[in-house]
Amino acid sequence: MNRYSDAYRQATEQPEVFWAEQARRLPWYTPPTQVLSYDDQQHARWFSDGEFNICYAALDHHVAQGRAEQPAIYWDSPVTQSRRTLTYRELRDQVAHFAGALAGLGVRKGDRVVIYMPMIPEALVAMYACARLGAIHSVVFGGFAPHELAMRIEDAEPTVVVAASCGIEVDKVVPYKPIIDQALTQSRHQPDACVIFQRDLHPAILGARDHDWGELVANAPFAECVPVKGSDPLYILYTSGTTGKPKGVMRDTAGYAVALAYSMQTIYAMNPGEVMCTASDVGWVVGHSYIVYGPLLHGCTSVVYEGKPVNTPDAGSFWRLIETYRVTSFFTAPTAFRAVKKADPEARLLGEYDISSLKHLYVAGERLDPPTFHWLDDLLDVPVIDHWWQTETGWPIAANQPGLEAMPIKAGSASLPVPGFNVQVLDREGEQAAPMEQGSVVIRQPLPPGCLTGIWRDPQRFHSAYMAAFPGYYLTGDGGYFDETGYLFIMGRTDDVINVAGHRLSTGEMEEVVGGHPAVAECAVIGIHDALKGQVPLGLVIPKDDFSGDELTLENELIARVRETIGPIACFKQVLVVNRLPKTRSGKILRKLLRNMADGKAFGIPSTIDDPTSLEEVHAIMCDRAVGSALIRHA
Ligand code: COA
Ligand code: AMP
Repeated sequence: MNRYSDAYRQATEQPEVFWAEQARRLPWYTPPTQVLSYDDQQHARWFSDGEFNICYAALDHHVAQGRAEQPAIYWDSPVTQSRRTLTYRELRDQVAHFAGALAGLGVRKGDRVVIYMPMIPEALVAMYACARLGAIHSVVFGGFAPHELAMRIEDAEPTVVVAASCGIEVDKVVPYKPIIDQALTQSRHQPDACVIFQRDLHPAILGARDHDWGELVANAPFAECVPVKGSDPLYILYTSGTTGKPKGVMRDTAGYAVALAYSMQTIYAMNPGEVMCTASDVGWVVGHSYIVYGPLLHGCTSVVYEGKPVNTPDAGSFWRLIETYRVTSFFTAPTAFRAVKKADPEARLLGEYDISSLKHLYVAGERLDPPTFHWLDDLLDVPVIDHWWQTETGWPIAANQPGLEAMPIKAGSASLPVPGFNVQVLDREGEQAAPMEQGSVVIRQPLPPGCLTGIWRDPQRFHSAYMAAFPGYYLTGDGGYFDETGYLFIMGRTDDVINVAGHRLSTGEMEEVVGGHPAVAECAVIGIHDALKGQVPLGLVIPKDDFSGDELTLENELIARVRETIGPIACFKQVLVVNRLPKTRSGKILRKLLRNMADGKAFGIPSTIDDPTSLEEVHAIMCDRAVGSALIRHA
C-alpha cells in the first residue's frame, strides 16, 4: 500500500507541505502564504490569508475553462414527475442573478441567510449565491418542525430567509410557508425579508416581508464573486448534540474546498466530466459536500434527486438514476439500501437497468451492517465502500480510497484513516487502546482542512464538546476499534446521540420535549435497534402522582408533541408509561441496560442498581407491548 501509506505519512508528518500541494489545484485570487496557522485556542486554521471564492472555483472557473455547456446538475424529481438539466453556464447565471437579488435585499459578506428548501435546483442556486457574496448560509432540513427552524433562526440571526413554498414527500405535500411563519412567530430574531420559491403544486400566499423568487430574480443584476479570506466562514450547519440546543457547526471556505477537491479524486475516484449521484438531502452535511460543492469543484455533474429509494415509484429508483445519468459514483445511507432490500429482496428490478457506468458504491451516515454489505456485494460488480464521517468533519475521516490505492474491503469496517486524519482509539485513561480493544475514537490535532472551525458564537461549547475530554485530540463521540491490520471499525456513539435512518438526533432533546408535558414527572428516551432505520427512539415515561388520565392518550400526546416540536424526522412513535425507571443508587437512569433490554440482548443486573425489581417491571411492560426485541429474551 505504498501510495496510500506515503500520502498518509506525509499528511501526518508534513501537513503544510501536503495540503499546500493539494491547494495548488484550485483557482485563488491570492494564493495563501500561510497554509496552517492556529487560533488563540490552538485550533487549526487553514489557508487563512489566501483569497478565494468557492462559487468562483465551482462555477465561473469551469465556465471559463471550457465546461460552460457541460451539465452541472441533473435534477430528477419522480415526486413531481419532472427532470431538468442545468449546464455550468446556466447554473452560474442563475446563481449570479440570485446573488444580485440577495444583495438587493441587503445581504453582504458575513451576513447569514437561512435556507429551508427541498431537493430542487433552487436550493443549490441559493447556497451558491450566498457563497458568491461571501454571505454565510445555514440550510435547515425540511423534515424539521417550526421550533427547530426557530432555534436555528434565532441563533444564526439571518438577514434573509430563503424557502420554497412546499416540499413533497412520497404521498403528501408539505407546505413550508406555515412552518416558516410559525418559526418566525417563535423566534426573537426577525429577518429583513423572506424569499419564497413558488412551486406549482402548492404556491404560498405571500405576506408583507415576502418576495417572490421569480419576480425578484427577473429584475436582479448579475453579481460578481466577492473574494473572501480562506478561513472566512462558508456556512453554519446545525447538528444534534447531547442537549436540546443544536450545535452550529462552522465551516471555513478554502480548507473545505481543498479537502473536497482532494476527496473527489482520492476517495470517490472521480474524473472531471463524470457523474456523481448522492441520494441524500441538501439539509445534511452529505448533501453540502457531495451534492452541492464537491462534484462541481471537481468539474463533475451532480444528480439532484427529489425522491426516495422506494415508493417513488418503486425500489428500482437508484438503479434507474444510475442508468439514466450514466452515474460513476453513487452514494447514499445504508438505511436506504435496507429499504430497497426489504421491498425487492431478490433485486429483480436491478435486471431492468443497465448500470454498467457505475464504478463504486459508497455509503455513510451510519455503519454499513454486514448483512446489507453482503447483499450489495453479491449483487454488484463494483466495490461497496463504507466510509465514516460526521457533520463536524465535513468529509470522510476513514474510507477505502480507490482513487489513491484500492484496498481490500472488510465487512463492517470503514477501512483506513484518510490522509490528514490522525485517528487513534483511546481507553478511559486516555491511553492508546490495543488492536481489537474498543475505546473512544479521537483525532489528533491539528484537524485537516475541511473540518469545523468552531461552534457558531459558542467557543466554550466547541471546547467542552470536542476538545476537553482528551487534550490534544478531537473527540468524535464514536466508539470503535482498530483491528490488527489497522482497519477501523466504528461501532456507535458514546453519547446521547442516536442515528435514525442515517439522521443524527439527540435523545436529550427528545427528553426535554417529553419532560415538558404537564403530566410527566420523569422520562428517558433511548435509541433501540430497528431493522430498517438502524435505530428508533423509545420513550419511557413516569406520570406525575396526580395523573388520573388515560395512559394511551398520554402516550399519543407525547408522540404528537415530539412530532410538532422536533419534526416527523424524529420518528418518535413509541412511548411506554412505567411506574419506575431502573436507576443507580446515585439516581442515574440505567440507559444502556434499558437499551440492551429492548434489543433483546443479555443484560446483567448491575451491583449499583437501586432497586432491581424496577428492572423486571420495565422488562415486563416492554414484553407486553412487544417493544423492539425485548421478547427474544423469553423465547
Ligand atoms: N420534509 C418533510 N418531511 C420529511 C422530510 C422532508 N424533507 N423527510 C422525511 N420527512 C418525514 C417523512 O415523510 C416521514 O413522515 P411520516 O412519519 O409522516 O411518515 C418522517 O419524516 C420520517 O421520514 P424517514 O425517516 O425518511 O422515513 P420513511 O419511512 O419515510 O423512509 C427511508 C425511510 C429509509 C426510505 C428514508 O429514511 C431514506 O431514504 N433515508 C435515507 C437517509 C439519508 O438520506 N440520510 C442522509 C445522510 S447520508
Ligand atoms: P452526521 O453528523 O449526521 O453525519 O452523523 C455522524 C455520525 O453518524 C457519526 O458520529 C457516527 O456515529 C455515524 N456514522 C456516520 N457514518 C458512519 C459509518 N460509516 N460507520 C459508522 N457510523 C457512522
